[in-house]
Amino acid sequence: MRQAALIFILRCLPLFFTLLGLADCTVITNDTASLVNSSFEYIVIGGGTTALAVANRLAVNHSVLVVERGPDLVNDEAINDPFTTFGTPSPCHFQIQLAPQMGFNGSRMIPMTYGSCLGGSSSINTMIGSRPTYAGMTAVEALGNPGWGWNEFLPFMQKSETFHPPNPTQHAEGANFLAVVHGFDGPVGVSFAQPLVAPTLQDAAKNTTNTVFEGAVALSPDMGDGFSGGHYSSYYHHIHFNKTLQMDRRSSSAWSYLYPQTEQRAGLTVLVGHRINTISTSGPSEAGENITVTGVLVEPTGGGSSSAFNASREVVLSAGALYSPAILQRSGIGNATFLQSLGIEPVLDLPGVGANFQDQILLTNVSFSIAPSANITNITGGGEVLLAVVVAHPTAIDTLGPNGTSAMNAMLRNISAEQALSTGGIVGSKTLTTQAALTADAYEIDHPLIEIFYTPGPTAINVWAQSVLPLSRGTIRINSTDPSVDPIADAQYLTTEVDMVVAVAAARKVSSIAVTPPFSDLLVENALAEAGVPQVGATDEEVSQWVLSTYTPGTHPIGSNSMMPRELGGVVSPELLVYGTTNLRIADASIVPLSVFPHTTLGLYGVAEKAADMILQTATENL
Ligand SMILES: Cc1cc2nc3c(=O)[nH]c(=O)nc-3n(C[C@H](O)[C@H](O)[C@H](O)COP(=O)(O)OP(=O)(O)OC[C@H]3O[C@@H](n4cnc5c(N)ncnc54)[C@H](O)[C@@H]3O)c2cc1C
Ligand SMILES: *[C@@H]1O[C@H](CO)[C@@H](O)[C@H](O)[C@H]1NC(C)=O
Ligand SMILES: *[C@@H]1O[C@H](CO)[C@@H](O)[C@H](O)[C@H]1NC(C)=O
Ligand SMILES: *[C@@H]1O[C@H](CO)[C@@H](O)[C@H](O)[C@H]1NC(C)=O
Ligand SMILES: *[C@@H]1O[C@H](CO)[C@@H](O)[C@H](O)[C@H]1NC(C)=O
Ligand SMILES: *[C@@H]1O[C@H](CO)[C@@H](O)[C@H](O)[C@H]1NC(C)=O
Ligand SMILES: *[C@@H]1O[C@H](CO)[C@@H](O)[C@H](O)[C@H]1NC(C)=O
Ligand SMILES: *[C@@H]1O[C@H](CO)[C@@H](O)[C@H](O)[C@H]1NC(C)=O
Ligand SMILES: *[C@@H]1O[C@H](CO)[C@@H](O)[C@H](O)[C@H]1NC(C)=O
Ligand SMILES: *[C@@H]1O[C@H](CO)[C@@H](O)[C@H](O)[C@H]1NC(C)=O
Ligand SMILES: *[C@@H]1O[C@H](CO)[C@@H](O)[C@H](O)[C@H]1NC(C)=O
Ligand SMILES: *[C@@H]1O[C@H](CO)[C@@H](O)[C@H](O)[C@H]1NC(C)=O
Ligand SMILES: *[C@@H]1O[C@H](CO)[C@@H](O)[C@H](O)[C@H]1NC(C)=O
Repeated sequence: MRQAALIFILRCLPLFFTLLGLADCTVITNDTASLVNSSFEYIVIGGGTTALAVANRLAVNHSVLVVERGPDLVNDEAINDPFTTFGTPSPCHFQIQLAPQMGFNGSRMIPMTYGSCLGGSSSINTMIGSRPTYAGMTAVEALGNPGWGWNEFLPFMQKSETFHPPNPTQHAEGANFLAVVHGFDGPVGVSFAQPLVAPTLQDAAKNTTNTVFEGAVALSPDMGDGFSGGHYSSYYHHIHFNKTLQMDRRSSSAWSYLYPQTEQRAGLTVLVGHRINTISTSGPSEAGENITVTGVLVEPTGGGSSSAFNASREVVLSAGALYSPAILQRSGIGNATFLQSLGIEPVLDLPGVGANFQDQILLTNVSFSIAPSANITNITGGGEVLLAVVVAHPTAIDTLGPNGTSAMNAMLRNISAEQALSTGGIVGSKTLTTQAALTADAYEIDHPLIEIFYTPGPTAINVWAQSVLPLSRGTIRINSTDPSVDPIADAQYLTTEVDMVVAVAAARKVSSIAVTPPFSDLLVENALAEAGVPQVGATDEEVSQWVLSTYTPGTHPIGSNSMMPRELGGVVSPELLVYGTTNLRIADASIVPLSVFPHTTLGLYGVAEKAADMILQTATENL
């Protein structure tokens, strides 16, 4: 971490604003006793990435209560400084132990990291600012979600951001942008890495990427323009520039939508250190009618007595893909047979709750030592770097060639749903066949098959690969009615054949990169062997063994309350309303039905803005 800048931020100046006749301050408290006389039109469950964005928009004209399980870490420099060494523990860092996942030698016990504090995972993530693709949003819409295609979704992503164009030096290094796809007036700061880093590495990595993918991967006009397939950029956008301070600060959801003076909301109350146990419901008064949610049951995270809060309009569930389905299940919303087996009285039979859970995989165990002869200063930039100084998005054709692509598409179009069905990852075989066909269509339009990113460290260069559109499907299921007990999260990583084919191809490309000049010139002689990465020409068996033994979670869990038609196991409608309810919406990563966001955050701000827009629309209709 660099020298911590001493920045004291006055979040809200009540007197100043009152004199100006502007908004009063948002209340952030950990004390339910202070709220006994309050009533709320909306309750937002969770105080994370999407939650705070939704709450900010609703609270302009409405009373809103946000309930966040974790603390308010406004002054924690380990979080606010974007150059803090990745993974440095903080009171926001949590891990959930996944159910045993597939390994080479039987199962592996793998933890998944997530954030639990104001800002949620946006307070601890690596700030890579990628967006969903055009092809991906086409697939989401074709799954039965009118209004969610790229052209309709883009304005909501634009609404959330203030984009900072590259300076001339960054531009000369290949940092490009198209003003027309960006927003310049939203709360979230998006920029390129400052200061400029690692020119030697950037030059070498770009040239080698071009050679390995046979020239098919070209400099992108803008990494957020939707047409990501085949592109690379010298820089990814990062979510960390502060316009006011003109310096690098993490633009978490809390710093974007909650803390700034301009975002203060008199109608907004944020209760921290409290978790939601259940959502309270009433009805149906007659069989077949929809149920109405009335509020939530809350308890202190550290233990203690419960409090109830009522919502006169709607409840918005934004506890993330790991916890949102668990809250629904505890509240009696889910697969009725399964809920009864836990002694929970079903309120709404919705078997898709907790199904269709998915995550990308990362091949992160790849660190190549820098050659003694190389100028380390020029490779590493000599200072602070962020993840991914060069990133490539090769398509299926770029990665597998025409024959490999045909073979993969045939696999997708003839996929066997058996495995996913047997684990409960899908509610019917049509769910997977539909999603697989749309995935094949997306690849045919312009979807990246994998992402490869280069990051320099003090003595080595990491070349990581990530799958983008996995087909394996798992589950989130509670195993206890105690809200302090984590649900069983089972990602079922790499359990479909096509996901293994892609992972093996990605690993082979990483091996090729390490032996292809000019990038290989920067590395020690035996870089592959030293890093334990398969040699070029290794057998499929050898590469599979390495993949299965070393892969790690993509940390982009999604899908566990998917936006899909109800008959496919969907949980929410295109209006993000939980099927069978009149006033329960979900706005977080759990609604994303296909992994079309190479990294999730900027797309999720779009989801939040669209959710708020639809909720306010309903409020206007029901004045
Ligand atoms: C280590 C890591 C690195 C990542 N890197 C990137 C990256 O570089 N770029 C990118 O775009 N994305 C990245 N991501 C992914 C991205 O940050 C997440 O997908 C996104 O933040 C999820 O937003 P969300 O609103 O769905 O959930 P979250 O932001 O996780 O918010 C959920 C909130 O709900 C709270 N909560 C849970 N249960 C309860 C309850 N019962 N009651 C009250 N509150 C509750 C949690 O404490 C949490 O604050 C990364 C994620 C991780 C973990
Ligand atoms: C609640 O907030 C107060 C004031 O900020 C603090 O002193 C106290 O430790 C907090 N309590 C808990 C349980 O977090
Ligand atoms: C709630 O209202 C009652 C009656 O007006 C009042 O006595 C009490 O102080 C209020 N409590 C809080 C925390 O505002
Ligand atoms: C808030 O209410 C005012 C007055 O009714 C209205 O003009 C304005 O458009 C509303 N703003 C939002 C964001 O709904
Ligand atoms: C597989 O298990 C065997 C026996 O326990 C062990 O010797 C071997 O190293 C393991 N291989 C991998 C790749 O984990
Ligand atoms: C990379 O390619 C560019 C353009 O072809 C060339 O000018 C440059 O010298 C190459 N760099 C290296 C290190 O080979
Ligand atoms: C930028 O810094 C200011 C303090 O000067 C703060 O109010 C604001 O929230 C920050 N914005 C972001 C996006 O981090
Ligand atoms: C229940 O809500 C759905 C929308 O989710 C609506 O189509 C349906 O008509 C409602 N049913 C009743 C009985 O009101
Ligand atoms: C490496 O490059 C830096 C920056 O140009 C330069 O200052 C330094 O002297 C070089 N080191 C060596 C050993 O050549
Ligand atoms: C290091 O980078 C500087 C500035 O880009 C350049 O002038 C110099 O030639 C580089 N040195 C080496 C050894 O690459
Ligand atoms: C691709 O398939 C065609 C037709 O089956 C075959 O003739 C050709 O050799 C294959 N190419 C490669 C690179 O495998
Ligand atoms: C519901 O759960 C039961 C018991 O776990 C399971 O047998 C059934 O297949 C599930 N139904 C659906 C549609 O997933
Ligand atoms: C689920 O809970 C039961 C009863 O507490 C326990 O025996 C079992 O091991 C748990 N299952 C898992 C997978 O955690």
